[in-house]
Amino acid sequence: MSSSRRRFLVRSLVWSGLGVGLTRTSWGLPWLEEGLTPTAVQTKGPFYPIPEIEKQKYYDADLTRLDDKSPVAEGDQIVVRGSVVNFDDRPLSQVVVEVWQACTTGRYNHPQDRNDRPMDPNFQYWARILTGDDGSFSFRTIQPGKYPGRTPHIHYRIVAKEHPELVTQMYFESNEEFNRRDGIYMDLSPEQRKSVTVAMESKPLDVSNPKSEKLPTGNFKIVLGPLGDAKATRPM
Ligand SMILES: [Fe+2]
Repeated sequence: MSSSRRRFLVRSLVWSGLGVGLTRTSWGLPWLEEGLTPTAVQTKGPFYPIPEIEKQKYYDADLTRLDDKSPVAEGDQIVVRGSVVNFDDRPLSQVVVEVWQACTTGRYNHPQDRNDRPMDPNFQYWARILTGDDGSFSFRTIQPGKYPGRTPHIHYRIVAKEHPELVTQMYFESNEEFNRRDGIYMDLSPEQRKSVTVAMESKPLDVSNPKSEKLPTGNFKIVLGPLGDAKATRPM
């Protein structure tokens, strides 16, 4: 059994409650190490952009406008800086990170969305980006609008070699009141909610220039479970 598989099984045992009180110290076993908790799986929902995605020309990491010359989308701009790692905290490069979300009115760019709120012709409703050598990714977008039954959120689909595909959603700590009324969010355990909830902080857009424009910025660390352990990323 590989060491990563072994660590995963140990963590599963501890999470399931069978291992309560059994810690590395109490067992004295050198291989009993805590890894990172895999980011919780969440429903893909009905508005995943494929096949419509193929018809969309723009999918870069700036969702606030279609291209450099087009008008800016409505809404409050935010930045998400994130990283994708495995549960041993090893950065994963060249990982596909897809994001899709509602515009500021709470409308998706999807034919199944019957919501009669207006679409924003200047908003790029989705992006497909790759992580860098250090596992990092970032994108600029607008604060997603609320729509009936849901607290504001951004959908993610993560595709990495040698890891199970992860579909999840990211939430905003500042929306706690709405988050607590959202059944999909509240179905998660407190630990899992923590794994998908991000705090926004005003930070310079250009990290190397503290005087550059500041925008609310969140850090979303995405932890993938081991290959073959799809349960590793399922809600408990
Ligand atoms: Fe959604």
